[in-house]
Amino acid sequence: MPTWLRTTTPHHSHATGIRGRLARRSHRLVSLTRNSDPAYPYRPIFGPVYPASKTALNAVTLAMAIELESTGIKVNAACPGFTKTNLNNYTGTQTVEEGAREPVRLALLGSDGPNGTFSNADGPLPW
Ligand SMILES: NC(=O)c1ccc[n+]([C@@H]2O[C@H](COP(=O)([O-])OP(=O)(O)OC[C@H]3O[C@@H](n4cnc5c(N)ncnc54)[C@H](OP(=O)(O)O)[C@@H]3O)[C@@H](O)[C@H]2O)c1
Repeated sequence: MPTWLRTTTPHHSHATGIRGRLARRSHRLVSLTRNSDPAYPYRPIFGPVYPASKTALNAVTLAMAIELESTGIKVNAACPGFTKTNLNNYTGTQTVEEGAREPVRLALLGSDGPNGTFSNADGPLPW
């Protein structure tokens, strides 16, 4: 197991081995696939600070998922949706419970669950 995982991630062992789950919080508007399309309506807000940092997080998430593929640990990225938190001065349109739904689903995946995906509550998102 890589050192970064041992030192940063809670996990636990079962009879079947390690059952770690990482659900990284990303954002649906940071997809490189979508933002490289000039017709994408949210393209003007894809700036080099917060949005690009989330795209970088996506890259690290996928790299972690690939690195851990053989361990049974699953690493996925989720967008919680526009959620009322301190981040947006509580202007979000969803409750925290609604925003937690997709990350919690990914955190509780069974052994047959996916690895290396990007999604929100509506389904898969393009990287
Ligand atoms: N809210 C949304 O609409 C939305 C949409 C898409 C993605 N996201 C993502 O969801 C994640 C959670 O955001 P949130 O909406 O829950 O925001 P939040 O309410 O502002 O919470 C951010 C959390 O991060 C912690 N934090 C901030 N800077 C930190 C640092 N330097 N070191 C350690 N902890 C730090 C804060 O700790 P303290 O409480 O101690 O300050 C707080 O617990 C973020 O990655 C955000 O980008 C949010």
